[in-house]
Amino acid sequence: MQKQNKKCSFCGIEASIDVPLIAGNDGQICEACVVLANQVVSSWGKKKELAEMQGPLPKPVEIKALLDEYIIGQNLAKEILSVAVYNHYKRLKHESSQIGGLGSASGNVEIGKSNILLIGPSGTGKTLLASTLAKIVGVPFVVADATTLTQAGYVGDDVENILVRLLDVADGHIGKAEWGIVYLDEVDKIARSPEQAFGTRDVSGEGVQQALLRLVEGSQVKVPCKGRRKDANNTDSVMIDTRNILFIAGGAFPGLEKHVEKRLVPANTAIGFHLDISRSNLKPPLEELLNATEPDDLKRFGLIPEFIGRFPILAPLEPLDIDALIQILTEPKNALVKQYQHLFAYDGVNLEFTSEALVEIAEKAIIRNTGARGLRSIIENILRKPMFELPTRGNVEACIIDASAVKGETTIKLIEREEPEPVQQKAH
Ligand SMILES: Nc1ncnc2c1ncn2[C@@H]1O[C@H](COP(=O)(O)OP(=O)(O)OP(=O)(O)O)[C@@H](O)[C@H]1O
Ligand SMILES: [Mg+2]
Repeated sequence: MQKQNKKCSFCGIEASIDVPLIAGNDGQICEACVVLANQVVSSWGKKKELAEMQGPLPKPVEIKALLDEYIIGQNLAKEILSVAVYNHYKRLKHESSQIGGLGSASGNVEIGKSNILLIGPSGTGKTLLASTLAKIVGVPFVVADATTLTQAGYVGDDVENILVRLLDVADGHIGKAEWGIVYLDEVDKIARSPEQAFGTRDVSGEGVQQALLRLVEGSQVKVPCKGRRKDANNTDSVMIDTRNILFIAGGAFPGLEKHVEKRLVPANTAIGFHLDISRSNLKPPLEELLNATEPDDLKRFGLIPEFIGRFPILAPLEPLDIDALIQILTEPKNALVKQYQHLFAYDGVNLEFTSEALVEIAEKAIIRNTGARGLRSIIENILRKPMFELPTRGNVEACIIDASAVKGETTIKLIEREEPEPVQQKAH
């Protein structure tokens, strides 16, 4: 009697040398069905991801509390960003409930997005705010440097590349990418160049702004997706709708406050209207001035009115004072002092900074006028010698940085480990 071949319990194909079957308790499965099952399960995963994205709504206070762990001060900017992200989530919920036919309570109201422009001096945490936000939000998030962008067809990144990256972050899931957040860094550097020769094209200034307009405003943008999954028509590009993508732009706009001040505080009057200048030195604080920025002030930086108009919310960042800089050195989760203490601990050395040393370092950073950005290089300079020598010495227990060491007046204090007493041979 001929022995009957086993068949795949799912598709019924007969087992052979080319079609091996994996046996289970009650049946068996072929390779093709395993692959198919894998695809089905991963598509469930994608659905779950989307559900997670729409999952628990982090409240503005919660978002701000998370930002507080990494960023010192900048409360106004943090509050504005937390509200913006929260509203973004709410719109996501609102829209998806409307798709599902549940949105009747709110009628046909379409909630528009409010893009944000972060303005503040260099090194005060604009990029840090954006990258921290990226870590804590549950939607795809990319940071794009506006200075690397050029108008399509010219050397540099196309504006569309931002969407390619967003699609990457969203694991190729178009629906997820369409709900992402894009941070456009250094927008003050894509100014239209005033001395553009007649007849030449301004491909990195106004050209980029024009290209960005289309994206920021919301339109269907064709995005290449070579080597990634293709759309239904099996083409090499997909369409992304940017209507729901939240754009946050950031720039230092150096000297912006002078324009605002000129507008608000006429030269020969000591008292300006609108601003509270009853403080010590009659000069309104920078954050307050930046908060009073109007589109016209930004136009002076070569931003075209259409571009400015698409960022209705302005979030000013304040300059960092000595106290803030000291806090930045020691308090955030990955504070600089903590980072270097970890580095030294690898070699068994306890690194300590006296509080006077921290003040001295902060003062040096203020003189450099680059915000908190200068702190790392100041510390690197101070620690260069011990970082060079200590790993080979091996007998140093602690390294103490005091104010005079920061000033370079004395060398850094090192405490050596006490050598263990030589063990006495016991007499028998
Ligand atoms: N408010 C802050 N809290 C904690 N760290 C900060 C803060 N501001 C700046 N830093 C530190 O300084 C570094 C530089 O800051 P960041 O890159 O955010 O500056 P920026 O505002 O984007 O400046 P630029 O306009 O020059 O791009 C950060 O990596 C961070 O370590
Ligand atoms: Mg920056």
